[in-house]
Amino acid sequence: MDFKTAVANEILSALKAAFGEVEIAPADIAAALEIPPDTALGDYAFPCFKLSKALRKSPMMIADALAAGIHADFVGRVESVKGYLNFFIDRAIYAEKVLSLARAQGERYGADDSGAGKTVVLDYSSINIAKRFHIGHLSTTMIGNSLYRLHRFFGWRAVGVNHLGDWGTQFGKMIAAYKRWGDHDTVAAGGVDEMVKLYVRFNDEAKENPALNDEGRAWFKKIEDGDPEALEIFNWFKSVTLKDAERVYDMLGVTFDSYAGESFYNDKMQPIIDSLRDKGLLKEDQGAQIVDLADYGMPPALILRSDGATLYMTRDLAAAKYRKDTYDFDKSLYVVAYQQDLHFRQLFKVLELMGYEWSKACEHVAFGMVSFEGEALSTRQGHVVYLDELLTQAVEKARAIIDEKSPDLENKDEVARQVGIGAVVFFDLYNNRIKDIDFSWDRALNFDGETGPYVQYTHARACSVLRKAAGAEKAEPDFAALADPFSQDVVRLIEQFPDILKSAVNRSEPSMVTRFAVDLAQAFNKFYYENKVMVDEPGTRAARLLLTDVVRQTLKVALYLIGVEAPERM
Ligand code: ARG
Repeated sequence: MDFKTAVANEILSALKAAFGEVEIAPADIAAALEIPPDTALGDYAFPCFKLSKALRKSPMMIADALAAGIHADFVGRVESVKGYLNFFIDRAIYAEKVLSLARAQGERYGADDSGAGKTVVLDYSSINIAKRFHIGHLSTTMIGNSLYRLHRFFGWRAVGVNHLGDWGTQFGKMIAAYKRWGDHDTVAAGGVDEMVKLYVRFNDEAKENPALNDEGRAWFKKIEDGDPEALEIFNWFKSVTLKDAERVYDMLGVTFDSYAGESFYNDKMQPIIDSLRDKGLLKEDQGAQIVDLADYGMPPALILRSDGATLYMTRDLAAAKYRKDTYDFDKSLYVVAYQQDLHFRQLFKVLELMGYEWSKACEHVAFGMVSFEGEALSTRQGHVVYLDELLTQAVEKARAIIDEKSPDLENKDEVARQVGIGAVVFFDLYNNRIKDIDFSWDRALNFDGETGPYVQYTHARACSVLRKAAGAEKAEPDFAALADPFSQDVVRLIEQFPDILKSAVNRSEPSMVTRFAVDLAQAFNKFYYENKVMVDEPGTRAARLLLTDVVRQTLKVALYLIGVEAPERM
Protein backbone atom coordinates (compact mmCIF):
# COMPACT_ATOMS: atom_id res chain seq x y z
CA MET A 1 0.00 0.00 0.00
CA ASP A 2 1.37 3.39 -0.87
CA PHE A 3 1.37 6.37 1.37
CA LYS A 4 -1.22 8.42 -0.42
CA THR A 5 -3.66 5.53 -0.29
CA ALA A 6 -3.04 5.23 3.45
CA VAL A 7 -3.98 8.88 3.93
CA ALA A 8 -7.03 8.42 1.71
CA ASN A 9 -8.13 5.41 3.76
CA GLU A 10 -7.83 7.41 6.97
CA ILE A 11 -10.02 10.13 5.49
CA LEU A 12 -12.57 7.57 4.38
CA SER A 13 -12.91 5.96 7.80
CA ALA A 14 -13.13 9.36 9.48
CA LEU A 15 -15.81 10.34 6.97
CA LYS A 16 -17.82 7.21 7.73
CA ALA A 17 -17.43 7.66 11.46
CA ALA A 18 -18.63 11.26 11.30
CA PHE A 19 -21.33 11.10 8.62
CA GLY A 20 -22.30 7.46 8.12
CA GLU A 21 -22.03 5.84 4.66
CA VAL A 22 -20.72 8.25 2.05
CA GLU A 23 -20.76 7.80 -1.70
CA ILE A 24 -17.08 8.21 -2.45
CA ALA A 25 -14.42 5.74 -3.50
CA PRO A 26 -10.99 5.70 -1.82
CA ALA A 27 -9.42 6.24 -5.24
CA ASP A 28 -11.39 9.48 -5.65
CA ILE A 29 -10.18 10.69 -2.29
CA ALA A 30 -6.61 9.84 -3.22
CA ALA A 31 -7.05 11.69 -6.51
CA ALA A 32 -8.40 14.76 -4.70
CA LEU A 33 -5.45 14.94 -2.31
CA GLU A 34 -3.28 17.95 -3.00
CA ILE A 35 0.34 18.52 -2.20
CA PRO A 36 0.61 22.03 -0.71
CA PRO A 37 3.25 24.19 -2.37
CA ASP A 38 4.63 25.06 1.06
CA THR A 39 5.28 22.24 3.52
CA ALA A 40 4.31 24.64 6.33
CA LEU A 41 0.75 23.95 5.17
CA GLY A 42 1.21 20.23 5.57
CA ASP A 43 2.35 17.30 3.47
CA TYR A 44 -1.09 16.70 2.04
CA ALA A 45 -4.23 18.75 1.90
CA PHE A 46 -7.72 17.40 1.36
CA PRO A 47 -10.20 19.98 0.04
CA CYS A 48 -13.68 19.43 1.47
CA PHE A 49 -15.57 21.65 -0.97
CA LYS A 50 -16.83 18.88 -3.25
CA LEU A 51 -18.18 16.87 -0.31
CA SER A 52 -19.99 19.88 0.97
CA LYS A 53 -22.87 19.45 -1.48
CA ALA A 54 -23.38 15.74 -0.91
CA LEU A 55 -23.18 16.06 2.89
CA ARG A 56 -25.11 19.35 3.06
CA LYS A 57 -22.54 20.75 5.45
CA SER A 58 -20.07 23.56 5.06
CA PRO A 59 -16.53 22.60 4.00
CA MET A 60 -15.21 24.05 7.28
CA MET A 61 -17.53 21.84 9.31
CA ILE A 62 -16.52 18.77 7.36
CA ALA A 63 -12.82 19.55 7.75
CA ASP A 64 -13.34 20.11 11.51
CA ALA A 65 -15.16 16.80 11.91
CA LEU A 66 -12.53 14.92 9.96
CA ALA A 67 -9.69 16.55 11.90
CA ALA A 68 -11.24 15.31 15.13
CA GLY A 69 -11.61 11.79 13.77
CA ILE A 70 -8.09 11.05 12.50
CA HIS A 71 -5.77 9.29 14.93
CA ALA A 72 -3.50 7.05 12.88
CA ASP A 73 0.00 7.14 14.28
CA PHE A 74 1.63 7.97 10.95
CA VAL A 75 -0.28 11.22 10.97
CA GLY A 76 1.68 13.51 13.25
CA ARG A 77 -0.95 16.22 13.28
CA VAL A 78 -4.01 17.39 11.29
CA GLU A 79 -5.38 20.89 10.97
CA SER A 80 -8.65 22.16 9.62
CA VAL A 81 -8.06 25.41 7.76
CA LYS A 82 -10.70 27.12 5.64
CA GLY A 83 -12.29 23.99 4.30
CA TYR A 84 -9.01 22.14 3.87
CA LEU A 85 -7.87 19.27 5.98
CA ASN A 86 -4.09 19.61 6.24
CA PHE A 87 -2.02 16.58 7.11
CA PHE A 88 1.33 16.73 8.81
CA ILE A 89 2.85 13.33 8.52
CA ASP A 90 5.04 11.94 11.25
CA ARG A 91 8.40 12.40 9.55
CA ALA A 92 10.06 9.25 10.81
CA ILE A 93 7.12 7.05 9.90
CA TYR A 94 6.83 8.81 6.55
CA ALA A 95 10.44 8.08 5.70
CA GLU A 96 10.09 4.53 6.91
CA LYS A 97 6.99 3.80 4.85
CA VAL A 98 8.22 5.39 1.64
CA LEU A 99 11.73 3.98 1.73
CA SER A 100 10.67 0.50 2.82
CA LEU A 101 8.16 0.26 0.00
CA ALA A 102 10.68 1.48 -2.58
CA ARG A 103 13.27 -0.89 -1.19
CA ALA A 104 10.92 -3.87 -1.18
CA GLN A 105 9.76 -3.27 -4.76
CA GLY A 106 13.29 -2.63 -6.00
CA GLU A 107 13.51 -1.70 -9.65
CA ARG A 108 9.78 -2.25 -10.04
CA TYR A 109 9.08 0.61 -7.64
CA GLY A 110 6.82 3.08 -9.43
CA ALA A 111 5.39 0.44 -11.76
CA ASP A 112 2.05 -1.29 -11.67
CA ASP A 113 0.11 -3.66 -13.94
CA SER A 114 -2.33 -1.09 -15.29
CA GLY A 115 -1.28 -1.98 -18.84
CA ALA A 116 -1.52 -5.74 -18.47
CA GLY A 117 -3.42 -7.25 -21.38
CA LYS A 118 -3.27 -3.99 -23.32
CA THR A 119 -1.31 -3.19 -26.45
CA VAL A 120 0.18 0.08 -27.60
CA VAL A 121 1.57 0.60 -31.09
CA LEU A 122 4.20 3.32 -31.30
CA ASP A 123 5.26 4.84 -34.61
CA TYR A 124 8.59 6.58 -34.02
CA SER A 125 11.84 7.53 -35.71
CA SER A 126 10.31 6.61 -39.11
CA ILE A 127 13.30 7.77 -41.13
CA ASN A 128 13.47 8.23 -44.87
CA ILE A 129 15.41 5.95 -47.19
CA ALA A 130 18.44 7.43 -48.96
CA LYS A 131 18.58 10.37 -46.54
CA ARG A 132 21.09 10.86 -43.76
CA PHE A 133 19.83 10.53 -40.21
CA HIS A 134 20.01 14.12 -38.96
CA ILE A 135 19.10 15.66 -35.64
CA GLY A 136 15.63 16.48 -36.93
CA HIS A 137 14.90 12.80 -36.28
CA LEU A 138 16.39 12.72 -32.79
CA SER A 139 13.26 13.76 -30.88
CA THR A 140 10.91 11.29 -32.53
CA THR A 141 13.44 8.53 -31.92
CA MET A 142 14.04 9.31 -28.26
CA ILE A 143 10.49 10.29 -27.27
CA GLY A 144 9.26 7.11 -28.95
CA ASN A 145 11.90 5.00 -27.25
CA SER A 146 11.02 6.45 -23.86
CA LEU A 147 7.29 5.95 -24.35
CA TYR A 148 8.02 2.39 -25.43
CA ARG A 149 9.94 1.72 -22.21
CA LEU A 150 7.40 3.54 -20.03
CA HIS A 151 4.49 1.54 -21.39
CA ARG A 152 6.31 -1.72 -20.89
CA PHE A 153 7.15 -0.66 -17.34
CA PHE A 154 3.40 -0.52 -16.71
CA GLY A 155 2.82 -3.93 -18.23
CA TRP A 156 1.67 -2.93 -21.71
CA ARG A 157 2.64 -4.95 -24.73
CA ALA A 158 4.44 -2.38 -26.87
CA VAL A 159 4.97 -2.63 -30.61
CA GLY A 160 7.58 -0.23 -31.95
CA VAL A 161 7.17 0.57 -35.62
CA ASN A 162 9.68 2.36 -37.81
CA HIS A 163 7.35 3.56 -40.58
CA LEU A 164 10.10 3.97 -43.16
CA GLY A 165 9.77 6.65 -45.79
CA ASP A 166 10.55 4.25 -48.61
CA TRP A 167 8.12 5.26 -51.30
CA GLY A 168 8.02 8.07 -53.81
CA THR A 169 9.11 9.21 -57.25
CA GLN A 170 12.51 10.28 -55.91
CA PHE A 171 13.53 6.63 -55.78
CA GLY A 172 12.96 6.34 -59.54
CA LYS A 173 15.27 9.31 -60.03
CA MET A 174 17.84 7.80 -57.74
CA ILE A 175 17.92 4.59 -59.71
CA ALA A 176 18.17 6.51 -62.97
CA ALA A 177 21.12 8.45 -61.54
CA TYR A 178 22.74 5.29 -60.26
CA LYS A 179 22.40 3.59 -63.65
CA ARG A 180 23.98 6.59 -65.39
CA TRP A 181 26.78 7.59 -63.04
CA GLY A 182 26.92 5.27 -60.11
CA ASP A 183 28.69 2.04 -59.40
CA HIS A 184 28.16 -0.61 -56.82
CA ASP A 185 31.41 -0.28 -54.89
CA THR A 186 31.24 3.49 -54.47
CA VAL A 187 27.72 3.34 -53.05
CA ALA A 188 28.52 0.33 -50.90
CA ALA A 189 31.49 2.17 -49.41
CA GLY A 190 30.00 5.66 -49.22
CA GLY A 191 26.56 4.63 -48.00
CA VAL A 192 23.77 7.16 -47.86
CA ASP A 193 26.11 10.07 -48.65
CA GLU A 194 26.85 8.55 -52.07
CA MET A 195 23.14 8.10 -52.79
CA VAL A 196 22.46 11.69 -51.85
CA LYS A 197 25.26 12.84 -54.17
CA LEU A 198 23.74 10.92 -57.06
CA TYR A 199 20.34 12.40 -56.36
CA VAL A 200 21.67 15.95 -56.16
CA ARG A 201 23.54 15.50 -59.44
CA PHE A 202 20.40 14.12 -61.04
CA ASN A 203 18.35 17.15 -60.07
CA ASP A 204 21.09 19.54 -61.22
CA GLU A 205 21.44 17.91 -64.60
CA ALA A 206 17.69 17.59 -65.02
CA LYS A 207 17.47 21.38 -65.02
CA GLU A 208 19.48 21.42 -68.27
CA ASN A 209 18.14 18.17 -69.59
CA PRO A 210 14.49 17.68 -68.60
CA ALA A 211 14.37 14.34 -70.44
CA LEU A 212 16.13 12.90 -67.39
CA ASN A 213 12.92 13.29 -65.45
CA ASP A 214 11.18 10.92 -67.85
CA GLU A 215 13.90 8.44 -67.17
CA GLY A 216 13.31 8.84 -63.42
CA ARG A 217 9.58 8.39 -63.88
CA ALA A 218 10.15 5.29 -65.98
CA TRP A 219 12.28 3.74 -63.24
CA PHE A 220 9.71 4.58 -60.62
CA LYS A 221 7.04 2.91 -62.76
CA LYS A 222 9.31 -0.14 -62.88
CA ILE A 223 9.52 -0.25 -59.10
CA GLU A 224 5.75 -0.02 -58.93
CA ASP A 225 5.35 -2.80 -61.49
CA GLY A 226 7.72 -5.02 -59.58
CA ASP A 227 10.47 -5.11 -62.24
CA PRO A 228 13.20 -7.32 -60.75
CA GLU A 229 16.14 -5.06 -61.59
CA ALA A 230 14.42 -1.95 -60.25
CA LEU A 231 13.40 -3.73 -57.08
CA GLU A 232 16.84 -5.14 -56.55
CA ILE A 233 18.50 -1.72 -56.72
CA PHE A 234 15.78 -0.13 -54.61
CA ASN A 235 15.98 -2.80 -51.91
CA TRP A 236 19.73 -2.47 -51.88
CA PHE A 237 19.43 1.33 -51.34
CA LYS A 238 17.12 0.51 -48.51
CA SER A 239 19.46 -1.93 -46.83
CA VAL A 240 22.39 0.48 -47.17
CA THR A 241 20.35 3.22 -45.50
CA LEU A 242 19.21 0.89 -42.73
CA LYS A 243 22.72 -0.31 -42.09
CA ASP A 244 23.77 3.32 -41.53
CA ALA A 245 20.73 3.96 -39.36
CA GLU A 246 21.28 0.85 -37.30
CA ARG A 247 24.65 2.10 -36.20
CA VAL A 248 22.90 5.15 -34.79
CA TYR A 249 20.15 3.05 -33.20
CA ASP A 250 22.81 0.89 -31.57
CA MET A 251 24.56 3.93 -30.15
CA LEU A 252 21.23 5.16 -28.78
CA GLY A 253 20.04 1.77 -27.54
CA VAL A 254 16.85 2.05 -29.57
CA THR A 255 15.02 -0.95 -31.02
CA PHE A 256 11.97 -1.65 -33.18
CA ASP A 257 9.63 -4.57 -33.61
CA SER A 258 8.72 -3.71 -37.19
CA TYR A 259 10.21 -1.80 -40.08
CA ALA A 260 7.04 -1.88 -42.14
CA GLY A 261 7.22 1.44 -43.97
CA GLU A 262 5.29 3.17 -46.69
CA SER A 263 6.09 0.63 -49.42
CA PHE A 264 4.81 -2.18 -47.22
CA TYR A 265 1.30 -0.89 -47.90
CA ASN A 266 1.54 -1.05 -51.72
CA ASP A 267 -0.89 -3.95 -51.85
CA LYS A 268 -2.97 -2.91 -48.85
CA MET A 269 -4.50 0.34 -50.07
CA GLN A 270 -7.07 -0.94 -52.54
CA PRO A 271 -9.46 -2.23 -49.84
CA ILE A 272 -9.26 1.18 -48.12
CA ILE A 273 -9.99 3.00 -51.37
CA ASP A 274 -12.90 0.64 -52.11
CA SER A 275 -14.26 1.10 -48.65
CA LEU A 276 -14.02 4.89 -48.87
CA ARG A 277 -15.92 4.69 -52.16
CA ASP A 278 -18.58 2.32 -50.78
CA LYS A 279 -19.15 4.58 -47.82
CA GLY A 280 -19.64 7.51 -50.18
CA LEU A 281 -16.69 9.37 -48.75
CA LEU A 282 -14.64 9.60 -51.94
CA LYS A 283 -15.17 12.64 -54.15
CA GLU A 284 -13.63 13.67 -57.43
CA ASP A 285 -11.85 17.00 -57.45
CA GLN A 286 -10.04 18.08 -60.64
CA GLY A 287 -9.38 14.47 -61.49
CA ALA A 288 -8.06 13.61 -58.02
CA GLN A 289 -9.91 11.55 -55.42
CA ILE A 290 -10.37 13.28 -52.08
CA VAL A 291 -12.29 13.09 -48.83
CA ASP A 292 -13.97 16.43 -48.23
CA LEU A 293 -13.31 17.64 -44.69
CA ALA A 294 -14.73 21.16 -45.04
CA ASP A 295 -17.39 20.37 -42.42
CA TYR A 296 -14.57 19.87 -39.94
CA GLY A 297 -12.68 23.00 -40.87
CA MET A 298 -9.89 21.16 -42.67
CA PRO A 299 -8.70 21.03 -46.26
CA PRO A 300 -9.58 17.82 -48.12
CA ALA A 301 -7.59 14.63 -47.55
CA LEU A 302 -5.89 13.59 -50.79
CA ILE A 303 -6.37 9.89 -51.49
CA LEU A 304 -5.46 9.46 -55.18
CA ARG A 305 -3.70 11.87 -57.48
CA SER A 306 -5.21 12.52 -60.91
CA ASP A 307 -2.72 10.05 -62.40
CA GLY A 308 -3.99 7.42 -59.98
CA ALA A 309 -0.94 7.52 -57.71
CA THR A 310 -1.46 6.97 -53.99
CA LEU A 311 -0.22 9.40 -51.36
CA TYR A 312 1.29 9.62 -47.89
CA MET A 313 -2.28 9.82 -46.55
CA THR A 314 -3.43 6.74 -48.45
CA ARG A 315 -0.54 4.76 -46.98
CA ASP A 316 -1.22 6.03 -43.47
CA LEU A 317 -4.87 4.98 -43.74
CA ALA A 318 -3.80 1.49 -44.80
CA ALA A 319 -1.15 1.43 -42.05
CA ALA A 320 -3.63 2.41 -39.33
CA LYS A 321 -6.05 -0.33 -40.40
CA TYR A 322 -3.24 -2.87 -40.71
CA ARG A 323 -1.97 -2.06 -37.21
CA LYS A 324 -5.44 -2.46 -35.75
CA ASP A 325 -6.00 -5.76 -37.57
CA THR A 326 -2.54 -7.10 -36.76
CA TYR A 327 -1.93 -5.94 -33.20
CA ASP A 328 -5.44 -5.12 -32.00
CA PHE A 329 -4.07 -2.08 -30.19
CA ASP A 330 -5.73 -0.24 -27.33
CA LYS A 331 -3.68 2.83 -28.13
CA SER A 332 -1.80 3.87 -31.25
CA LEU A 333 0.74 6.66 -30.95
CA TYR A 334 2.40 8.61 -33.75
CA VAL A 335 5.51 10.38 -32.53
CA VAL A 336 5.90 12.87 -35.36
CA ALA A 337 6.90 16.55 -35.60
CA TYR A 338 4.31 19.21 -34.95
CA GLN A 339 4.46 20.27 -38.62
CA GLN A 340 2.41 17.20 -39.48
CA ASP A 341 -0.40 18.17 -37.13
CA LEU A 342 -2.88 18.72 -39.95
CA HIS A 343 -2.00 15.44 -41.60
CA PHE A 344 -2.80 13.51 -38.45
CA ARG A 345 -5.99 15.41 -37.70
CA GLN A 346 -7.12 14.58 -41.23
CA LEU A 347 -6.05 10.97 -40.89
CA PHE A 348 -7.91 10.42 -37.63
CA LYS A 349 -10.99 12.21 -38.96
CA VAL A 350 -11.13 10.06 -42.11
CA LEU A 351 -10.79 6.92 -39.97
CA GLU A 352 -13.63 8.16 -37.81
CA LEU A 353 -15.80 8.90 -40.85
CA MET A 354 -15.10 5.36 -42.08
CA GLY A 355 -16.80 4.21 -38.89
CA TYR A 356 -13.71 2.94 -37.11
CA GLU A 357 -14.46 3.29 -33.41
CA TRP A 358 -10.75 2.82 -32.68
CA SER A 359 -9.83 6.10 -34.38
CA LYS A 360 -10.30 7.53 -30.88
CA ALA A 361 -7.39 5.39 -29.70
CA CYS A 362 -5.03 7.07 -32.18
CA GLU A 363 -3.00 9.99 -30.97
CA HIS A 364 -0.45 12.32 -32.54
CA VAL A 365 2.40 12.82 -30.07
CA ALA A 366 3.73 16.07 -31.49
CA PHE A 367 7.01 17.78 -30.69
CA GLY A 368 8.81 21.01 -31.56
CA MET A 369 11.76 21.74 -33.80
CA VAL A 370 15.43 21.22 -33.06
CA SER A 371 18.02 23.79 -33.95
CA PHE A 372 21.71 23.54 -33.29
CA GLU A 373 23.69 26.25 -31.50
CA GLY A 374 21.15 28.83 -32.60
CA GLU A 375 20.98 27.79 -36.26
CA ALA A 376 17.89 26.28 -37.74
CA LEU A 377 18.39 23.02 -39.59
CA SER A 378 18.10 23.33 -43.26
CA THR A 379 19.34 20.95 -45.89
CA ARG A 380 19.42 23.71 -48.47
CA GLN A 381 21.75 26.02 -46.61
CA GLY A 382 23.92 23.13 -45.57
CA HIS A 383 23.42 23.49 -41.79
CA VAL A 384 22.72 19.84 -41.39
CA VAL A 385 23.85 18.15 -38.24
CA TYR A 386 24.05 14.41 -38.71
CA LEU A 387 23.17 12.36 -35.72
CA ASP A 388 26.10 9.95 -35.89
CA GLU A 389 28.53 12.88 -36.05
CA LEU A 390 26.80 14.62 -33.18
CA LEU A 391 26.91 11.49 -31.03
CA THR A 392 30.54 10.79 -31.87
CA GLN A 393 31.47 14.35 -30.97
CA ALA A 394 29.51 14.10 -27.73
CA VAL A 395 31.44 10.99 -26.78
CA GLU A 396 34.77 12.69 -27.57
CA LYS A 397 33.87 15.74 -25.52
CA ALA A 398 32.73 13.57 -22.62
CA ARG A 399 36.00 11.67 -22.88
CA ALA A 400 37.98 14.91 -22.58
CA ILE A 401 36.03 15.94 -19.49
CA ILE A 402 36.55 12.53 -17.90
CA ASP A 403 40.27 12.61 -18.66
CA GLU A 404 40.41 15.87 -16.78
CA LYS A 405 38.07 15.07 -13.87
CA SER A 406 38.71 11.37 -13.29
CA PRO A 407 42.06 10.49 -14.84
CA ASP A 408 42.16 7.19 -12.91
CA LEU A 409 38.82 5.84 -14.01
CA GLU A 410 39.14 2.31 -15.38
CA ASN A 411 36.82 1.96 -18.37
CA LYS A 412 36.98 5.52 -19.63
CA ASP A 413 35.84 4.74 -23.18
CA GLU A 414 32.72 2.95 -22.03
CA VAL A 415 31.84 5.71 -19.55
CA ALA A 416 32.53 8.41 -22.15
CA ARG A 417 30.11 6.67 -24.46
CA GLN A 418 27.43 6.47 -21.76
CA VAL A 419 27.91 10.07 -20.70
CA GLY A 420 28.25 11.62 -24.15
CA ILE A 421 25.23 9.92 -25.61
CA GLY A 422 23.29 10.28 -22.38
CA ALA A 423 23.92 14.02 -22.49
CA VAL A 424 22.40 14.35 -25.96
CA VAL A 425 19.39 12.19 -25.15
CA PHE A 426 18.77 13.88 -21.82
CA PHE A 427 18.96 17.32 -23.40
CA ASP A 428 16.51 16.27 -26.06
CA LEU A 429 14.00 15.03 -23.48
CA TYR A 430 14.42 17.80 -20.94
CA ASN A 431 11.72 20.20 -22.07
CA ASN A 432 8.05 19.75 -22.63
CA ARG A 433 8.03 18.01 -26.01
CA ILE A 434 6.04 20.66 -27.82
CA LYS A 435 8.73 23.28 -27.16
CA ASP A 436 11.41 23.97 -29.75
CA ILE A 437 14.89 22.92 -28.69
CA ASP A 438 18.16 24.68 -29.36
CA PHE A 439 20.93 22.18 -28.87
CA SER A 440 24.02 23.55 -27.18
CA TRP A 441 27.19 21.72 -26.20
CA ASP A 442 27.75 23.90 -23.17
CA ARG A 443 24.33 23.26 -21.78
CA ALA A 444 24.17 19.57 -22.66
CA LEU A 445 27.53 18.58 -21.22
CA ASN A 446 27.66 20.81 -18.17
CA PHE A 447 28.23 18.53 -15.19
CA ASP A 448 26.68 21.07 -12.81
CA GLY A 449 23.61 22.06 -14.78
CA GLU A 450 20.28 20.36 -15.24
CA THR A 451 21.85 17.79 -17.49
CA GLY A 452 22.29 14.10 -18.10
CA PRO A 453 25.89 14.09 -16.89
CA TYR A 454 24.79 15.79 -13.66
CA VAL A 455 22.18 13.12 -12.95
CA GLN A 456 24.54 10.32 -13.98
CA TYR A 457 27.22 11.80 -11.76
CA THR A 458 24.80 11.89 -8.82
CA HIS A 459 23.90 8.26 -9.45
CA ALA A 460 27.59 7.34 -9.54
CA ARG A 461 28.15 9.29 -6.32
CA ALA A 462 25.38 7.29 -4.59
CA CYS A 463 26.98 4.08 -5.88
CA SER A 464 30.32 5.18 -4.52
CA VAL A 465 28.89 5.99 -1.07
CA LEU A 466 27.31 2.55 -0.97
CA ARG A 467 30.48 0.83 -2.14
CA LYS A 468 32.50 2.48 0.58
CA ALA A 469 29.91 1.51 3.19
CA ALA A 470 29.74 -2.11 2.12
CA GLY A 471 32.08 -3.23 4.90
CA ALA A 472 30.30 -1.36 7.68
CA GLU A 473 28.34 -3.37 10.25
CA LYS A 474 24.63 -3.73 9.48
CA ALA A 475 22.10 -2.08 11.77
CA GLU A 476 18.40 -1.32 11.89
CA PRO A 477 17.74 2.10 10.34
CA ASP A 478 16.68 4.78 12.80
CA PHE A 479 14.13 6.66 10.72
CA ALA A 480 13.98 9.55 13.17
CA ALA A 481 17.38 10.46 11.73
CA LEU A 482 15.63 11.31 8.46
CA ALA A 483 13.34 13.95 9.99
CA ASP A 484 15.48 16.88 8.84
CA PRO A 485 14.20 18.92 5.88
CA PHE A 486 16.93 17.73 3.47
CA SER A 487 16.20 14.06 4.00
CA GLN A 488 12.49 14.78 3.89
CA ASP A 489 12.78 16.55 0.53
CA VAL A 490 14.38 13.42 -0.88
CA VAL A 491 11.74 11.15 0.66
CA ARG A 492 8.94 13.29 -0.71
CA LEU A 493 10.31 13.04 -4.25
CA ILE A 494 10.69 9.28 -3.93
CA GLU A 495 7.10 9.09 -2.83
CA GLN A 496 5.96 11.07 -5.88
CA PHE A 497 7.84 8.89 -8.37
CA PRO A 498 4.97 6.44 -9.12
CA ASP A 499 2.51 9.28 -9.81
CA ILE A 500 4.99 11.10 -12.01
CA LEU A 501 5.52 8.00 -14.11
CA LYS A 502 1.78 7.50 -14.48
CA SER A 503 1.33 11.08 -15.67
CA ALA A 504 4.25 10.70 -18.06
CA VAL A 505 2.54 7.71 -19.67
CA ASN A 506 -0.91 9.26 -19.72
CA ARG A 507 0.32 12.49 -21.28
CA SER A 508 2.97 10.85 -23.47
CA GLU A 509 5.45 13.21 -21.86
CA PRO A 510 8.90 11.74 -21.08
CA SER A 511 10.14 15.18 -19.95
CA MET A 512 8.25 14.64 -16.70
CA VAL A 513 10.68 11.82 -15.93
CA THR A 514 13.71 13.85 -17.02
CA ARG A 515 12.71 16.76 -14.78
CA PHE A 516 12.06 14.42 -11.92
CA ALA A 517 15.53 12.93 -12.28
CA VAL A 518 17.06 16.41 -11.99
CA ASP A 519 14.90 17.29 -8.98
CA LEU A 520 15.85 14.09 -7.21
CA ALA A 521 19.54 14.50 -8.03
CA GLN A 522 19.49 18.06 -6.69
CA ALA A 523 17.66 17.07 -3.51
CA PHE A 524 20.06 14.20 -2.91
CA ASN A 525 23.11 16.40 -3.41
CA LYS A 526 21.74 18.89 -0.86
CA PHE A 527 21.08 16.04 1.55
CA TYR A 528 24.60 14.75 0.98
CA TYR A 529 26.12 18.16 1.56
CA GLU A 530 24.17 18.71 4.77
CA ASN A 531 24.27 15.23 6.25
CA LYS A 532 27.25 13.00 6.73
CA VAL A 533 26.31 9.46 5.77
CA MET A 534 29.11 7.47 7.41
CA VAL A 535 28.49 8.63 10.98
CA ASP A 536 29.36 6.45 13.95
CA GLU A 537 25.81 6.06 15.23
CA PRO A 538 24.73 2.81 13.47
CA GLY A 539 20.97 3.56 13.29
CA THR A 540 21.50 6.97 11.69
CA ARG A 541 24.10 5.58 9.32
CA ALA A 542 21.81 2.72 8.29
CA ALA A 543 18.93 5.14 7.66
CA ARG A 544 21.08 7.45 5.51
CA LEU A 545 22.50 4.52 3.61
CA LEU A 546 19.03 3.21 2.92
CA LEU A 547 17.99 6.60 1.59
CA THR A 548 21.11 6.70 -0.56
CA ASP A 549 20.36 3.26 -1.94
CA VAL A 550 16.77 4.13 -2.80
CA VAL A 551 17.97 7.29 -4.56
CA ARG A 552 20.49 5.22 -6.53
CA GLN A 553 17.81 2.76 -7.58
CA THR A 554 15.26 5.44 -8.47
CA LEU A 555 17.73 7.48 -10.54
CA LYS A 556 18.76 4.35 -12.39
CA VAL A 557 15.15 3.46 -13.25
CA ALA A 558 14.29 7.05 -14.21
CA LEU A 559 17.31 7.23 -16.52
CA TYR A 560 16.47 3.86 -18.04
CA LEU A 561 12.93 5.03 -18.77
CA ILE A 562 14.21 7.99 -20.79
CA GLY A 563 16.79 5.84 -22.56
CA VAL A 564 19.92 6.97 -20.70
CA GLU A 565 22.47 4.62 -19.18
CA ALA A 566 23.63 4.93 -15.58
CA PRO A 567 27.35 4.20 -15.10
CA GLU A 568 28.31 3.18 -11.57
CA ARG A 569 31.62 5.02 -11.64
CA MET A 570 32.41 8.29 -13.32
N1 ARG B 1 8.96 9.60 -42.64
C1 ARG B 1 8.20 10.71 -42.13
C2 ARG B 1 9.12 11.92 -41.93
O1 ARG B 1 10.31 11.76 -41.80
C3 ARG B 1 7.53 10.42 -40.81
C4 ARG B 1 6.52 9.30 -40.84
C5 ARG B 1 5.67 9.30 -39.61
N2 ARG B 1 4.75 8.22 -39.50
C6 ARG B 1 3.64 8.09 -40.20
N3 ARG B 1 2.91 7.03 -40.01
N4 ARG B 1 3.22 9.04 -41.02
O2 ARG B 1 8.63 13.02 -41.89
